[in-house]
Amino acid sequence: MIHDRILYVPEYYDRHQDFVFPGWDSPEVFGRVAPVEVEYCAGNGAWIVEKAIAHPERNWVAVEIQFERARKIWSKIQNLNLKNLFVVCGEGLTFTKYYAPTGGFASVYVNFPDPWPKDKHAKKRILKEPFLTEISRASASGALATIATDHPEYAGQIIEGMLANPLWEPKFPAPHFVMDFEEYGSSYFHDLWRAQGIPVHFMQFANRGLP
Ligand SMILES: C[S@@+](CC[C@H](N)C(=O)[O-])C[C@H]1O[C@@H](n2cnc3c(N)ncnc32)[C@H](O)[C@@H]1O
Repeated sequence: MIHDRILYVPEYYDRHQDFVFPGWDSPEVFGRVAPVEVEYCAGNGAWIVEKAIAHPERNWVAVEIQFERARKIWSKIQNLNLKNLFVVCGEGLTFTKYYAPTGGFASVYVNFPDPWPKDKHAKKRILKEPFLTEISRASASGALATIATDHPEYAGQIIEGMLANPLWEPKFPAPHFVMDFEEYGSSYFHDLWRAQGIPVHFMQFANRGLP
């Protein structure tokens, strides 16, 4: 369901395939043609709201699974009258697989995805297959995917997964991450880890495009 700048993607549902997404430029979504930048795991939206204000010429999509957090992003859209920010309240893989049109994203960001640090929970991490292939399909050829995490082991797993996927090419030379990324922007978790002196791994990959 799309209503008032939110696409709601239900969790327990077996008819995702029946929904026909009208397209990012349709009047129900942005109502204009502009590059679409998506942030998965957007939390309370601090990072993407800052970006949407700084870059009004671009269309921004915040994907967040928790209803209360998605609602907070939506409130910011209303309070700041942001016409170039849209919220997807739903799970990132489900949204991408069933709703996101092929080749639509100009950039993809994942800022501080839940690290699920316990071994028995690691399978819940979003940045693995099939998500990596789905975000490649949903983004344009040459689009950049930028990922930030404070969790070194998760960073290693992400790099391994991206290198194993022929659709993604690393932008940073080996070991394929940097720990300083000036002007990246700030999010709740970015500020939290910085205040505690916890280093952050930034990774960036370019979409090679579907063969
Ligand atoms: C650690 S927080 C980071 C929030 C924000 N990016 C920041 O940097 O402050 C991770 C966020 O990802 C959301 N999340 C976790 N798994 C998700 C998924 N599969 N799809 C969409 N959002 C997800 C959580 O609800 C949470 O808000």
